[in-house]
Amino acid sequence: MTPSDVKATLSFSDGSPSMELPIYKGTIGPDVIDIRKLYGQTGKFTYDPGFLSTASCNSTITYIDGDKGELLYRGYPIEQLAVQCDYLDTCYLLLYGDLPNADKRKGFHKLVTNHTMVNEQMQFFLRGFRRDAHPMAVMTGLVGALSAFYHDSTDINNPQHRDIAAIRLIAKMPTLVAMAYKYSAGQPYMYPKNDLSYAGNFMRMMFATPCEDYHVNPVIERALDRIFILHADHEQNASTSTVRLCGSSGTNPFAAIAAGVACLWGPAHGGANEAALNMLEEIQRNGGVEKIGEFIKQVKDKNSGVKLMGFGHRVYKNYDPRAKLMRETCHEVLTSLGLHNDPLFKLAMALEKIALEDDYFVSRKLYPNVDFYSGIVQRAIGIPVSLFTAIFALARTVGWIAQLNEMIGDPEYKIGRPRQLYAGSVSRDIKPLADR
Ligand code: SDX
Repeated sequence: MTPSDVKATLSFSDGSPSMELPIYKGTIGPDVIDIRKLYGQTGKFTYDPGFLSTASCNSTITYIDGDKGELLYRGYPIEQLAVQCDYLDTCYLLLYGDLPNADKRKGFHKLVTNHTMVNEQMQFFLRGFRRDAHPMAVMTGLVGALSAFYHDSTDINNPQHRDIAAIRLIAKMPTLVAMAYKYSAGQPYMYPKNDLSYAGNFMRMMFATPCEDYHVNPVIERALDRIFILHADHEQNASTSTVRLCGSSGTNPFAAIAAGVACLWGPAHGGANEAALNMLEEIQRNGGVEKIGEFIKQVKDKNSGVKLMGFGHRVYKNYDPRAKLMRETCHEVLTSLGLHNDPLFKLAMALEKIALEDDYFVSRKLYPNVDFYSGIVQRAIGIPVSLFTAIFALARTVGWIAQLNEMIGDPEYKIGRPRQLYAGSVSRDIKPLADR
């Protein structure tokens, strides 16, 4: 980060001494005001619940321009990566800072492939869950359980250990998600096959059975791989910030990623793809396109508590570039599967059109986000709705671990420890029980 020539001056109307605050510039995007010395010099904290105006770190991994609707992974536009690269290329890029050449690409793909199996003991964790447990509850448990297998061999301060932890997590997430699905379906687990692609391997572990050979549908394989790319990283979103804060204590990296899985589950975050599809199905059940007006009326009524799931974003105040690419993927897959008349896709596009012309959404800059169309394409592929967020977690694991490793690799990093504005009781003495 580069010091700016401009300084910020903080002054107080009560005559308290003013303070000069340094400003730093990144390569692109908003400058930051360095407040690290604020409390020491003024005895005051800043106040920013929800972190609307707070930069928590200095990162080189992902850049988002919310006004332009721009998303860059290590400087490469998501539109180019989604078309010209595959997910493992994107993992390499996010982890190491640039796209691999042919040799490095081959070596990385082989390395990940050779780590796709999980310890045989992992299957016994699943037995503790009911078969109808939510897959994100299962995934939070399974990813946390991985920490038990790699605790004594992982020194988070050793760069080689951080790197192998990243490879293991990227490689094993598809295996764990598929195991969670098979467990819910009462079907036997399928072991990974090393001659398949990352997405193809996941499809086979999900949909194959030991009874017959499984043939990967290349259209679905490409669509899944693109879904993984679109979800791979997204700056300091809630789950990534959770992973950073959790990992800042020096805890086991698998445990820190499990915290990210737990945070992603929420309907305001990664859980929105499941909620968006459930919302579309409910509108469909209640009359479909003709009833969109009534639904929109509910959304505008603050007392209804109804939100247009898959719409709105803390950063994007323009169309989420991932949503555009997801809509294209949706159309490609539905057409390829002969589902181009899928009523839910038509309903989603009608809902999007109406919302984008309605002042309630326009004035609040509410556009479709990555979760609005992802559910429709996953449903067409045959993925159960309850597994959508687990697929998001699978794809986001590389972003989480790349961001965690970037933080731990920074010699200046400290344990995260926010403060508060205290509005509770002042000191008081306990009254005897008889007097309470
Ligand atoms: C993801 O951060 C990331 O990068 C996340 C993510 C990633 O890749 O990691 O992009 C993935 O989480 C995408 C977002 C998925 N969530 C949803 O689709 C759930 C529905 N969206 C909302 O809950 C909401 O838009 C958030 C949580 C995404 C953002 O909320 P903010 O930034 O806190 O904004 P807000 O709640 O203050 O909303 C501003 C206004 C409010 O109205 P007013 O009080 O000004 O009258 O917009 C309204 C909100 O009520 N609003 C919505 C709405 N989202 C915001 N109204 C109806 N439907 C919505 N979806």
